[in-house]
Amino acid sequence: MAPSLTETVVQSTETISKGLVTLKLRPEAEKPSDKGPSYPFYFPYFDKDEKFPPTEIFEHTDPGLRANPAKPHLLADGVQRKDLSPYIGTELKNVQLSQLSKEGLDEVALFVAERKLVVLRDQDFKDIGADRQIEIARYFGPIQRHPTSGNVKGYPEFHVVYRDADNDRFREYVGGDRANLTSWHSDVSYEKQPPGTTLFFILDQPPLGGDTIFASQVEAYNRLSPEFKKRLEGLKAVHSAVPQAEHSRSRDGPVRREPVETEHPVVREHPVTGEKALYVNQGFTKRIVGFKTEESEYLLKFLFDHISKGADFQIRASYEPGTVILWDNRLTVHSATPDYSTKERRHAVRLTPQAEIPIPA
Ligand SMILES: [Fe+2]
Repeated sequence: MAPSLTETVVQSTETISKGLVTLKLRPEAEKPSDKGPSYPFYFPYFDKDEKFPPTEIFEHTDPGLRANPAKPHLLADGVQRKDLSPYIGTELKNVQLSQLSKEGLDEVALFVAERKLVVLRDQDFKDIGADRQIEIARYFGPIQRHPTSGNVKGYPEFHVVYRDADNDRFREYVGGDRANLTSWHSDVSYEKQPPGTTLFFILDQPPLGGDTIFASQVEAYNRLSPEFKKRLEGLKAVHSAVPQAEHSRSRDGPVRREPVETEHPVVREHPVTGEKALYVNQGFTKRIVGFKTEESEYLLKFLFDHISKGADFQIRASYEPGTVILWDNRLTVHSATPDYSTKERRHAVRLTPQAEIPIPA
């Protein structure tokens, strides 16, 4: 049962939880015009003493492999489909994620892999309760428990994204001195089994701005010459959780699991569609295995520039009340666009099912 807002406010006049002093929820009296978060149950929770064991390898069978390619459950009569760009992104209306059968969820996995990003409008997902939300997400794979970010007390499966006038963790993390705050990444790609089909639902949003931009790593790969593709295939790169953990530690936040560094193929293959995708990202990829420092920097700089400048294989996902978006973290990178006023609240939750050990192309 979610605590009421009043309870949360009373508990958190000073701090929202033990171990982290920078996330504050002011008493309403101090901000009479602000009623606080619409969903206080999901206010980010940080417990410095929370610890997780190292992750264990598991066998992943992607639900998309079982899907009927015609997708009769997901794309039934009456469902409105609008593709947002040729390479990435589709918006669907008149379909409820929470009502889909197993067959329907198999089709979601396949459809998200094909379209890279799917925007579902008018969902009841935010109101179906934590257990059911987790149950649906878990259909796509075991849910990653984030080592450093805000979660929900008793529900470490939730990765909470939160910003308001008093709390701006994102800006602190990306850096206050940057000319832009674009920060391309694929979520937690340092995991040995990084996420596949990923869910994100919005709870509070600014009146304007706060979109998420996405790029297709399949099309980014396809644009390269055959000779350049040949050079990339077989290469591996190191993805590191260390900077994230150090940042959390430096501000007295949790490090629930010791940070890992993992080698992944620079080009990976999707287990369902067979598509090849670049699998490097600015957020977590640190170096090319076997290259000297300058060689690695040179290659990664080219790839990061190529991906970030590819407006012709990118899309901008916008939010409305009730929006749920799903993306395939194996085939995309994304960035927040913190373009809204620092006084505005944005509150969202990610559920991050993990998938297979990346398959080298
Ligand atoms: Fe992300």
